[in-house]
Amino acid sequence: MKRFRLFFILFVASVLFTGEVCAKEKIIRVLAIGNSFSEDAVCQNLHELAVAEGQECIIANMYIGGCSLERHLNNARKDLKAYIYQKIGLDGVRCQINNMTLSNALKDEPWDYISLQQASGFSGIYDSYTPFLPELIHYIKTFISPGTKLIWHQTWAYAEGANHIDFKKYGSSQMKMYESIIDASGRVMKDYGFSFIIPSGTAVQNARTTFIGDNMNRDGYHLNLVYGRYTAACTWFESIFGKSVVGNTYAPKNMHPVLVKATQEAAHQAVLHPYQRTNLNFIKPTEKLYTDPTVPLDIRVEDLLSRMTVEEKVIQLNQYTLGTNDIENNKGVEVKNIPAEIGSLIYFGTEPELRNRMQRHAMENSRLGIPILFGYDAIHGFRTIFPIPLAQACSWNPALVEQGCSITAQETKQSGIDWTFSPMIDVSRDPRWGRVAEGYGEDPYANAIFGQAAVRGYQGKKLDDSISIAACLKHYVGYGASEAGRDYVYTEISRQTLWDTYLPPYEISLRSGAASLMSSFNNISGIPGSANHYTLTEILRNKWGFRGLVVSDWGAVLQLINQGVAKDLKEAGKLALNAGVDIDMMSHSYDKYLKELVAEKEVEPTVLDESVRRLLRLKFQLGLFENPYTPKTEASARFRRTASLQVAEELSAQSMVLLKNDGTLPLHAVKRLAVIGPMANNDHDMLGCWWGHGEDKDIHKLLDGITDEFKKTEIRYAKGCDFLGKDESGFKEALQAAKWADVVVMCMGEKGNWSGENNSHADITLPQIQQRLMQKIHAIGKKVILVLANGRPLVLGSAVDMSNAILEMWQPGTDGASAVAGILSGRINPSGKLAMTFPYSQGQIPIYYNRRSSARSNQGFYKDMTSEPLYSFAHGLSYTHYSYGELSASKTTLSKGEKVKVSVSVTNDGEHDGMETVFLYVSDPYSRISRPVKELKRFDKRMIRKGETENFEFILDVNRDLGFVDDQGNLFVEAGEVKICIGDKKLSLEIK
Ligand code: BGC
Repeated sequence: MKRFRLFFILFVASVLFTGEVCAKEKIIRVLAIGNSFSEDAVCQNLHELAVAEGQECIIANMYIGGCSLERHLNNARKDLKAYIYQKIGLDGVRCQINNMTLSNALKDEPWDYISLQQASGFSGIYDSYTPFLPELIHYIKTFISPGTKLIWHQTWAYAEGANHIDFKKYGSSQMKMYESIIDASGRVMKDYGFSFIIPSGTAVQNARTTFIGDNMNRDGYHLNLVYGRYTAACTWFESIFGKSVVGNTYAPKNMHPVLVKATQEAAHQAVLHPYQRTNLNFIKPTEKLYTDPTVPLDIRVEDLLSRMTVEEKVIQLNQYTLGTNDIENNKGVEVKNIPAEIGSLIYFGTEPELRNRMQRHAMENSRLGIPILFGYDAIHGFRTIFPIPLAQACSWNPALVEQGCSITAQETKQSGIDWTFSPMIDVSRDPRWGRVAEGYGEDPYANAIFGQAAVRGYQGKKLDDSISIAACLKHYVGYGASEAGRDYVYTEISRQTLWDTYLPPYEISLRSGAASLMSSFNNISGIPGSANHYTLTEILRNKWGFRGLVVSDWGAVLQLINQGVAKDLKEAGKLALNAGVDIDMMSHSYDKYLKELVAEKEVEPTVLDESVRRLLRLKFQLGLFENPYTPKTEASARFRRTASLQVAEELSAQSMVLLKNDGTLPLHAVKRLAVIGPMANNDHDMLGCWWGHGEDKDIHKLLDGITDEFKKTEIRYAKGCDFLGKDESGFKEALQAAKWADVVVMCMGEKGNWSGENNSHADITLPQIQQRLMQKIHAIGKKVILVLANGRPLVLGSAVDMSNAILEMWQPGTDGASAVAGILSGRINPSGKLAMTFPYSQGQIPIYYNRRSSARSNQGFYKDMTSEPLYSFAHGLSYTHYSYGELSASKTTLSKGEKVKVSVSVTNDGEHDGMETVFLYVSDPYSRISRPVKELKRFDKRMIRKGETENFEFILDVNRDLGFVDDQGNLFVEAGEVKICIGDKKLSLEIK
């Protein structure tokens, strides 16, 4: 008996505990007629929240992206199969039917609740409801039973700063939009007899008052995929099932308990007070959320930010140096005792030890343990040095450039650096400016495409990978327009040219996810790049929505004084931060004055916070909080790995441009070869201007490359002369070698440090001493091959006529010599083409292919010489010959917004296999704003075997590729003719 009683008690207890024999709740059936906002709210989490409360339900959503009440009504009237119908059944199984009609969905289940909503952008505009709601409600009622309740789904206001076009209807103010929404939803409830409201909008606004802040959004207006959606689902749950959601045991995986608590409370309060925002700022995490990697990134940022003092914020926004500074132009005052709270350091070391020591200091001795971000200029390599970027562009092979950058990322990251100040995507049309070496030439599209490739290479798949680093697009913007080719000087850039020429590479490269950007030194028509609110905030942030980090160029904040826009360093800091420069690189303005500026209200605390937020976000993205230290990797496993060297050699080979060839190349059966000139047996000058940590001992010298290649040829070397100077004592030996030889290879040009930063040259001809040596050798009458090393296009003068062939090898890096040798021997068929025009004379500068046409096409030329360049953009010879077929287009009459396919077949009808780059240009003969004579829009490089034909296809977007922008960046597509030009073939298209 006793045993029976015990069993009975246990049975009752278990039943009470599990609720198993309780009567099942009624199955509730819910249909949301909406769009992606209702999808966010009902298609995830809601079913699970109900199940957690033992509630059975069937939930469905009628989806059309951005669907408004007007469109729903139109679909109803015509019974259009316009919807994606997403349904979650009793068992939680999801199914989807495309092409669903509203009527079929209404008939599909005996719905208990059917919701309606207005499209998000119109949700606060009541007048947009009234013309459509009565008929729509009437229509719905014809399909449902009287017991079905119609309910209203209130959507939410966008994030501050969202760039969604509809946000402008509310003056881009979140509160204005929210107030309009509650007003409209209140009226709709009164006027149309909905049973109840689901106040998701209010719930989201409530959540925004907690530590979550304004982080509920994705893509400018959508809810964050995890906690934003959960907030909405909680609101639905409580509204529909009439049970408090607070304490519900279901939450998405990876959602931190504090976030669950905050979002549940936000929803609960919204259901209690649907038309008023409840301030929940008392909900604060007690533990450090920012240290928890499972917490969403933006919340970690907000949590950390909320714990920081003004001093801690200010010091984050500075960058000093660490290690021995080897950059000639940038010798700033070294900070001896770097504070543990410093935001960023330029690290000059090649081994991680010093960095790790400094990082440990930051992690262990600062109050909040914020890791330091270490940056460095790994411009065209770290230890494996690739050709200079201008040369890389001549490869027209973005995939190869990407590979090069990913090798740089691996060597750099494993050496203790998280961030490179590369790529430079400054369009430059003046070869006197030394920095042309660092960019991708004169064309905006080429800079954009190579910029994207570099970003992909550096940043890899994920920023927190062990071999990824953050990229930095520089120098924003217009630095390449330096007047008369001088560095750091004024740039005269009209708004039209800014939008046409200098901004596109940035806008496009940002799309590949570049983490950061550097503000430039140059004065842009009166407002320097580092104090320019228009470029840094109105365009970059407001128009393009860039959320990444902006660092000033070295000392650029301080230089605002020299540029005449700031009276002192304090004012310079104020201008820079307010314009949108987050980090002060080495000006010591932010560290000295920012706290004061905030106290004096010269800088708003929100502006300070926003800059800190951007820096912290990048640190989290890079995984620095989880992995602050760089693990030790042996130098041999880190640097110059076999596969890396192959890429370096291939990139060098494809970068080299055969400028001239009278048939002397490739060399056949040469018995005696003289290799002459200051570059021939030179190592360091092969590297170019930013050699990172490249070492001379690694460099493959030209003479060695040629000797290895021409094993059966006798080779004699003579230096002949130096790069500069008057010393002709080496001429004799050089002339003897030339007389002895069948063919002479002259290795001439510029020293590596003649280009790059602070290296403007007024004279870009081949130096006199080199010219004289060439003249003497030419006089002997042997075949001469000129191999050029230089960091900019040169004016070659009589050297052209004195050479049978000219190979532009640029500054090819550590591993370019065998590529030169291979091209000379014919083992490699040259495939590079110029990314920047070679002027015939210095007086022609600036000279570039995409100029606008002249008022008189047959006049206005120079009287004293040709007006044509020596070698134009895209020039480059090959050992084979390609014939281009006629162009064809998928259609020749086009509408705005359409796409068109343009095809051309290219036949290699020469004697060698080869790689050909096909360039597609567009020209618009007339339009309201005149366009360049031609503009590059696509290119593609492919191998075409001897005797074979390749079909090249290019898809053009009428708006993007055939339209143009005005001086505010507004896009226009005009009716009329546009011409497509590929090789020597042309095709006319008509835009309707
Ligand atoms: C250059 C930048 C470089 C920075 C840091 C500046 O002088 O203009 O291109 O990234 O120094 O070294």
